[in-house]
Amino acid sequence: MTTTTGADAAGGGTAEAGAEGPADAALRPHAEDAFAHELAALAAADDRPRPPRWRLSPWAVSTYLLGGTLPDGTEITPKYVGPRRIVEVAVATLATDRALLLLGVPGTAKTWVSEHLAAAVSGDSTLLVQGTAGTPEEAVRYGWNYAQLLAAGPSREALVPSPVMRAMAEGMTARVEELTRIPADVQDSLITILSEKTLPIAELGEEVQAVRGFNVIATANDRDRGVNELSSALRRRFNTVVLPLPASPEDEVGIVTQRVAQIGASLQLPPVPEAVDEIRRVVTVFRELRDGETADGRTKVKSPSGTLSTAEAISVVTGGLALAAHFGDGVLRASDVAAGIQSAVVRDPAADSVVWQEYLETVVREREGWKDLYRACREVTA
Ligand SMILES: Nc1ncnc2c1ncn2[C@@H]1O[C@H](COP(=O)(O)OP(=O)(O)OP(=O)(O)O)[C@@H](O)[C@H]1O
Ligand SMILES: [Mg+2]
Repeated sequence: MTTTTGADAAGGGTAEAGAEGPADAALRPHAEDAFAHELAALAAADDRPRPPRWRLSPWAVSTYLLGGTLPDGTEITPKYVGPRRIVEVAVATLATDRALLLLGVPGTAKTWVSEHLAAAVSGDSTLLVQGTAGTPEEAVRYGWNYAQLLAAGPSREALVPSPVMRAMAEGMTARVEELTRIPADVQDSLITILSEKTLPIAELGEEVQAVRGFNVIATANDRDRGVNELSSALRRRFNTVVLPLPASPEDEVGIVTQRVAQIGASLQLPPVPEAVDEIRRVVTVFRELRDGETADGRTKVKSPSGTLSTAEAISVVTGGLALAAHFGDGVLRASDVAAGIQSAVVRDPAADSVVWQEYLETVVREREGWKDLYRACREVTA
């Protein structure tokens, strides 16, 4: 574990916290390091039963994700903003012998929730398989150190365990990112692991049996459906939890405000106060374009090809804060977010520019108090 100074910056939720981080702190510490103080406080306060090898009880894991105040006054910052029941179902699943599949459109915090769940349950979020079209079977099962394999033949020493194999042996949580991008035959090797809870090593005539505490959290993107359909055999091994887009504009503004403060602090951006009005406008633009109509329901607008997720709103605002802090007067203004909004909206230069122009002229231009945003957007568009 790293020291908690830099970690506090990421976890503290206040922009001021970042100024004290050491210059050599990890740019993005793992959840278990960034929030080590919260996890320790929860473990100390937690007197409920813990499933085998869990660092915390299911109750404490949900509190870690959703936030709260402990009896000793420690504030647990909310990591996930959304329905409590979703988190509870996810945590309860991990305490059973079924694996957890987090499903949703891009930018709904699937990866983020998976990392924090693994950190809270096992104290380690790094047993990770990144799913791509090129993910080989070794990434899910095991590989070999070829120098040793050639020198001395197959042995335990020459074996390179995958993150999943290590999680099985140690009773930990393994993470599989973007499960549906993994080729079907590699996905299939997960079936035995999840149903038999064993991983045979044919070359050695041995097996690694999962010890209690082992489980898998996978994430998959709604939009990738059809890239590699999840086989029904594999799907049956998972409980699926769908992460929704933020229900209300206020929820989304809250998520963006909180994450931007945390990211700004860990990047040691100078604090920028009073950003919430501008954040509200970015979120409004994204939601209206996503929903295909204005917030008051009066005007239909066309949707661009990109997803315009909460995650993208977070990067637009973070980028804007950097501009405001380094080149502006320290207040986030329309001119700091305009270019970011445009590049998020206009993904396909031909089709999306038309959509964007139309939205600018019919909605942004006409809206009371939005003249500055209109002008700033026109400037970057021209
Ligand atoms: N409901 C939410 N609560 C808290 N943070 C959120 C929420 N929705 C989005 N975020 C933030 O959005 C960012 C991106 O989320 P993440 O990368 O986990 O999305 P994802 O669902 O894995 O997307 P993709 O499908 O593109 O992989 C994170 O910083 C996360 O904090
Ligand atoms: Mg993801």
